[in-house]
Amino acid sequence: MFNRKITLVTFLFSLALLFSSNVVFAQDAAEGETLFKNNCAACHNTSDEVLVGPGLKGISERRPIDWIIKWVHNPQAVIGSGDKYANDLYTKFNKAAMTPYPNFSDDQIKGIVAYIDAANAAPAAPAAGAAPAEGAAAAPAQSSGGMMEGLLVGLLLIMVLVLVALLSIVNTLSKLASGEAQDETPLAKRIQDNIKAMAANSAIKTGVIVLILLFGGKATIDAAYGVGIHQGYAPEQPIKFSHKLHAGQYQINCNYCHTGVYSGKGANVPSANICMNCHNAIKRESPEIQKIYRAIEKDEPIQWVRVHNLPDLAYFNHSQHTNVGGLECKNCHGDIDKMEVVEQRSSLTMGWCIDCHRETDVNSKGNAYYDKLVELHNKDSKTPLKVQNIGGLECSKCHY
Ligand code: HEC
Ligand code: HEC
Ligand code: HEC
Ligand code: HEC
Ligand code: HEC
Ligand code: HEC
Repeated sequence: MFNRKITLVTFLFSLALLFSSNVVFAQDAAEGETLFKNNCAACHNTSDEVLVGPGLKGISERRPIDWIIKWVHNPQAVIGSGDKYANDLYTKFNKAAMTPYPNFSDDQIKGIVAYIDAANAAPAAPAAGAAPAEGAAAAPAQSSGGMMEGLLVGLLLIMVLVLVALLSIVNTLSKLASGEAQDETPLAKRIQDNIKAMAANSAIKTGVIVLILLFGGKATIDAAYGVGIHQGYAPEQPIKFSHKLHAGQYQINCNYCHTGVYSGKGANVPSANICMNCHNAIKRESPEIQKIYRAIEKDEPIQWVRVHNLPDLAYFNHSQHTNVGGLECKNCHGDIDKMEVVEQRSSLTMGWCIDCHRETDVNSKGNAYYDKLVELHNKDSKTPLKVQNIGGLECSKCHY
């Protein structure tokens, strides 16, 4: 009897170990993913595509992990040490200096490498930063991460349940085999009783609580790392203003309200006076429209919640993109005219800006300024003039 208990405990223990190692691995790669997206994706793709730095596909085979850790902690030190690989790479990338990350732990860097490997092992997962134009217009790519996580939690819970059931069967069967059980209760009923007993077992309860805490903790950490990336952000606004109604159904031009979008750096969010052009006559009695009146009476601006917001270190100019570049709002903002509430559709990360500058042809139609450039460019290149060829990848163009 005692022996059997020990076997059972060992069995339980080894299964638990198996689970926890899986959980820890998944956590490493998931943490690696957030770290990568927040720190590295600006300059690196997980595929072999070159951004500012080389594509990192196969990095774990190309370089030993110790080298990668040293490099990420301090690239300049590795270059300075005379390391041939590092120096060749540095020269190849025109001596572009990679940012050092001295505060990353070895495990965090291993997590990033695990994520890069995982991203390449599963071709279905979208590579970070890839296909910005489609990503911008279509559903936000990041939601798939959330789904995967949900699936993982679901799977784990199912596995725990199966484990409990299996254990109780083992328990019952072993009792039967030892001839211990003398009562005539049917086998199924006994297994059921056993499951109930195990559900009441405090060790298992603790296990489930620990699991829940693990995932709760992970979600909190993710949220902390996600600060700064607001893809999918759709805050509630003080007045229920609908773009679907105004820009979609009533076809009011975007620049009727966003007056700076073709001529200035900022697009501008309209003042209450612009609303009054129509609402001094339309739907005056509506409680939502009353809020506009109140703002005007009190001479206070409506406190719209800002959705898109780049950090101060980056410079972005609307007219350069809409007027000069000939881009449409939806290239970057998605189908605003179908949104009841505005949502940020693009990541607005540096990698996102750069990807588009690599892929987009310069709009030279009707722009004499570009004629000469295009002519020069076409002389020694077969590909059309891209934004990157006119300086769209230069740090100083986007950073003060
Ligand atoms: C500001 C741009 C930039 C950022 C941010 C950046 N890197 Fe780099 N990285 C580079 C450049 C450029 C190179 C090529 C070598 C050089 O010029 O210094 C490089 C090279 C590398 C290499 C060697 C690649 C190879 O093919 O051998 C690794 C590994 C690497 N980076 C990892 C990272 C990781 C991990 C992060 C995030 C924690 C990161 N980098 C963030 C620009 C960057
Ligand atoms: C009748 C006026 C009006 C029209 C027309 C209009 N907008 Fe807006 N827009 C607003 C107001 C008011 C806000 C702020 C409240 C909100 O976010 O819904 C806003 C917010 C936005 C934002 C988010 C701003 C932020 O805080 O980051 C974007 C992007 C935007 N509009 C794009 C468009 C596009 C694209 C069109 C044309 C398809 C358009 N708007 C047409 C009034 C308008
Ligand atoms: C060019 C005309 C025009 C402008 C400018 C305009 N609206 Fe409207 N708005 C409309 C029309 C038309 C309706 C639909 C009225 C209806 O359903 O009968 C409407 C409906 C609304 C509603 C829904 C009211 C309800 O209770 O059904 C809100 C809220 C609203 N607008 C807010 C705003 C705000 C805020 C602004 C300024 C940023 C604004 N509108 C600017 C024409 C305009
Ligand atoms: C090339 C990408 C791109 C295009 C095209 C684009 N936007 Fe934007 N938009 C942005 C970015 C990036 C921000 C955030 C700017 C910041 O925080 O400084 C932004 C912010 C905004 C805002 C918030 C207020 C502001 O000025 O920061 C509004 C409103 C807006 N865009 C409307 C539009 C409209 C309307 C169009 C089409 C006529 C348009 N945008 C086209 C990228 C774009
Ligand atoms: C959807 C594609 C797209 C995205 C996304 C995009 N850009 Fe651009 N960008 C362009 C195009 C096209 C031009 C060329 C305009 C022209 O002809 O001058 C351009 C030009 C520029 C220029 C001027 C470059 C030069 O050498 O004259 C700057 C600066 C710039 N973009 C900054 C940004 C920043 C910052 C972001 C991200 C917040 C961004 N862009 C996102 C397409 C894009
Ligand atoms: C096309 C525009 C563009 C170019 C070119 C560009 N950046 Fe950036 N960069 C951005 C934007 C936008 C952000 C802010 C992104 C964010 O908040 O996620 C940024 C952020 C950064 C950050 C801060 C990252 C952080 O986590 O806060 C650094 C460092 C940086 N860039 C360095 C560089 C260097 C070095 C170069 C030249 C090799 C460069 N950038 C070229 C647009 C650009």
